Amino acid sequence: MRLLGKTALITGAARGIGLEFAKAYLAEGARVALADIHAEAVEAAAAALGEAAIPIVMDVERQDSIEAGFAQAIGRMGRLDILVNNAALFTAAPVAEVTRADYDRVFAVNTAGTFFCMQAAARQMIAQGTGGKIINMASQAGRRGESLVSVYCASKAAVISLTQSAGLNLIRHKINVNAIAPGVVEGEHWDSVDALFARYENKPKGQKKKEVGEAVPFGRMGTASDLTGMAIFLATDEANYIVAQCFGVDGGNWMA
Ligand SMILES: NC(=O)c1ccc[n+]([C@@H]2O[C@H](COP(=O)([O-])OP(=O)(O)OC[C@H]3O[C@@H](n4cnc5c(N)ncnc54)[C@H](O)[C@@H]3O)[C@@H](O)[C@H]2O)c1
Repeated sequence: MRLLGKTALITGAARGIGLEFAKAYLAEGARVALADIHAEAVEAAAAALGEAAIPIVMDVERQDSIEAGFAQAIGRMGRLDILVNNAALFTAAPVAEVTRADYDRVFAVNTAGTFFCMQAAARQMIAQGTGGKIINMASQAGRRGESLVSVYCASKAAVISLTQSAGLNLIRHKINVNAIAPGVVEGEHWDSVDALFARYENKPKGQKKKEVGEAVPFGRMGTASDLTGMAIFLATDEANYIVAQCFGVDGGNWMA
């Protein structure tokens, strides 16, 4: 029960890593607002997790939706101690084929969404005066370029940079801002990534997923539950002296 009495808001929590983090925080005693753009999915996910799980319909691309979502979550939980900025979109395409609309959307969700959710959480945590924890989901893709993934990689590099600056700015309020950089993680997300690579690299379905899994030094793709240890740790007081860092949890894929 390392998060007993704490409250958390997790964006993109209707499925995948965000949902796994919500389950892990609940198991540690926290109350958790699961925020997601998909109303039905997030309501079903929260309903299955019991009374301490609160569904919030929020589109991190829209400022009015961020403000309404945080207000609703804080109204229900009374305070906010932890934010996990997890909602994100993935795209892949050769540079010559990237559309302006795709670029704008990925940056609006992954980068601006992360920043303005961080701002909404920080304003609340500053007003409370008791500090807080903000955890941004970056990626190994933010540490390097990838031939078909220019826009997503850049959006995640920006998340690492925002973590650094916000970490320095907010620690005076005892708000720790840190990031997690996963490698390749099983789930519905990677099924759509696999489909994009099948198209652009002319591979049969499932081939890219198999290749990236075999290339991980640990010997397999990650699972969402491989990441929960770091997500819990960074949300506890044990992480109070950790500021503006990005931690790889990737089976050895990348050395930062
Ligand atoms: N799966 C991986 O291999 C991997 C690797 C590195 C980093 N990551 C990062 O981890 C995080 C979670 O990844 P995942 O695999 O669980 O992804 P996912 O696609 O399974 O889940 C993302 C969730 O975000 C929600 N979402 C999308 N747009 C939104 C918006 N505008 N507002 C609110 N919610 C929105 C979706 O509805 C979905 O529930 C992401 O930040 C992703 O970039 C994932």
